[in-house]
Amino acid sequence: MDFPLEVITEGKVKLAVPKMSEYLRPDGVYEPAHAPVFYNPSAKFNRDVAVAFGRALKEELGRLDVLEPLAGSGVRSLRYAVESGATKVLAVDANPLAVELIKYNIKLNKLEDRVKVLLSEANAVLHSRELRDGYYDLVDVDPFGSPMPFADGAVRATRRRGLVAVTATDTAPLTGARPQSALRKYGALIRRTPFSKEVAVRVLVGAMVRVAAVREVALRPEAAFFKDYYVRAELRLDRGAGRADEALSNLGYLFYNEESYEVRVVKGYPVPEERPQGLAIGPLWLGPLTGPLARKALELAEGEVREFLRRLVEEDSVGTPYSYKIEKVASLLKINMPSPRLVVERLKELGYKALLTHYDHTSVKTDAPREEVFKAVEELGSRPQRGGPAP
Ligand SMILES: C[S@@+](CC[C@H](N)C(=O)[O-])C[C@H]1O[C@@H](n2cnc3c(N)ncnc32)[C@H](O)[C@@H]1O
Repeated sequence: MDFPLEVITEGKVKLAVPKMSEYLRPDGVYEPAHAPVFYNPSAKFNRDVAVAFGRALKEELGRLDVLEPLAGSGVRSLRYAVESGATKVLAVDANPLAVELIKYNIKLNKLEDRVKVLLSEANAVLHSRELRDGYYDLVDVDPFGSPMPFADGAVRATRRRGLVAVTATDTAPLTGARPQSALRKYGALIRRTPFSKEVAVRVLVGAMVRVAAVREVALRPEAAFFKDYYVRAELRLDRGAGRADEALSNLGYLFYNEESYEVRVVKGYPVPEERPQGLAIGPLWLGPLTGPLARKALELAEGEVREFLRRLVEEDSVGTPYSYKIEKVASLLKINMPSPRLVVERLKELGYKALLTHYDHTSVKTDAPREEVFKAVEELGSRPQRGGPAP
């Protein structure tokens, strides 16, 4: 390889990657996109969660064949082999330098018997004639930006009871900052709301469910979340028109009123069952964002991953597909923001479920009615001092 390398460790694998100090932005920060082969150390947590799900799936199926159609340095594929115990892994990339580096990394970890590499365009592999429908137990799509161009192929290439895992880094369209782009990529109306990150997660899941339904395939999230700069979904696959219809029955819309923070949850796809006042957001997935495999993965995981998955499962048990950003509620009430933690405590004292979300530490997810949330914030917040800054 005619570019400088360094050898690092991530998880339980050794890895040669482009020497990070050579590929810096003008502000001196490493820029993975500048390197000849893509390796992003800040996606480690994404991969930690991925391999935890791989391990849980292997335990359930007694086998784990993985396809990674956009593999970069190969770090994820190697980690599936070593840390999830994958029986067979195929790492694919269209960049010849990436393929060369993956080969090197396979040797470095002595994984020649279980990890293979292929120079190819991702969709050519996902749609190839040699692949009969449902060839892999886990297909992990981790592209630049949106995974949607690879969604149909990933569904095609995954076996029944397997996982389709997708990462989306195009958070601007998904969080409502670029509605037209969201419409093109995800076929959804998205506007900015105080609970944009959850909308991003639910729109991605909804879009995947719709793509799968075309093939009479059902997808259901085992885990879906927003972290740092990406959305990630681990989706369980099942086949059959009835199951696909069942999955579609979880789609619907949120109607958000910006003046009152009233959110109406309305089922229905493609058309919502009713049309309340407010900004229409959707179609999006309104069902649970975690499943039994998340519970299994968290039992097998340790440290930060275990804690994170535990939090996702707990958050999901509240059952409300949006949250209250306390800052926003306080500003609507024209008072200073109280501690979101105190709001959680107050709502729990009143007998409601309430917690701070993984999306951000000032958002409260609760099954309490909107009026109770506003009352709690009003009682706990303070009036701004006269002549002081407006909240
Ligand atoms: C975000 S990186 C993958 C990172 C990797 N999955 C990881 O966990 O480190 C995206 C990779 O996809 C490759 N790529 C982009 N478009 C592709 C395509 N159409 N087919 C195959 N590979 C592609 C790029 O060369 C790059 O290595």
